[in-house]
Amino acid sequence: MAAPRLGINVDHVATVRNARGGTMPDPVRAALVAIAAGADGITAHLREDRRHIRDGDLMRLKRDITKPLNFEMAATEEMVRLAMATKPHAACIVPEKREERTTEGGLDVIGGHAHLLPSMQRLRDAGIRVSLFIEPDEAALRACVSLGAPVVELHTGTYCDAVAHGETAKAAAEFDRLRSAARIGTALGLEVHAGHGIDFATGELLATIPEIVEFNIGHFLMGEAIFIGLPEAVRLMKEALAAGRARAA
Ligand code: PXP
Repeated sequence: MAAPRLGINVDHVATVRNARGGTMPDPVRAALVAIAAGADGITAHLREDRRHIRDGDLMRLKRDITKPLNFEMAATEEMVRLAMATKPHAACIVPEKREERTTEGGLDVIGGHAHLLPSMQRLRDAGIRVSLFIEPDEAALRACVSLGAPVVELHTGTYCDAVAHGETAKAAAEFDRLRSAARIGTALGLEVHAGHGIDFATGELLATIPEIVEFNIGHFLMGEAIFIGLPEAVRLMKEALAAGRARAA
């Protein structure tokens, strides 16, 4: 069974840069290093308040990297225009405002149907592959199908938090929810990705779910990079994902 793809989120390289207001460390350099170490793609989230990635970073990522660029964005006029100007390989629509998200944090694809549709249409018309960042929930998956999304990214934050806090029963229930959502999503014709809060251990466990074809991981790897270097952190995550996939049911 093919190993899952690993997208590296470079937002928090920009967080460190912005702490001093200069140009270092450069998220584009981090993206190039991650790709050389085996990353299958690069993800960057341009937020409305530009707290980490800036407009220029996005343009330089698109210009300089040799792997697909996944642009995480809110469904706003400003971000849709930037996406159309940058033309990333993919755009993952994420909630930015409280009213755009469900109680657990994924995009409110049911309540926000009318709001999402026009942005998705414009991205699609520009040849950008659209994914929706949602909770692992059947109703949300069905809403994504009716919105015409080819891809969903399942929010793994609740699961990873439960693991981190030693909440064994909750972690097991959340894992089941993710596994079942990945199966249902695939059966509905959606390509299933996953992300948020993943470390080596949860990456390996989540990779045992064969329907998840791509993981997008950032914060943990940038933290690890401080201690072991970014190439080694990327290499170990690839290894963890491949080990999990080898055990896939
Ligand atoms: N996927 C999506 C849609 C996200 O919003 C984030 C966080 O920016 C990630 C993946 C990566 O999460 P983390 O930085 O916790 O690995």
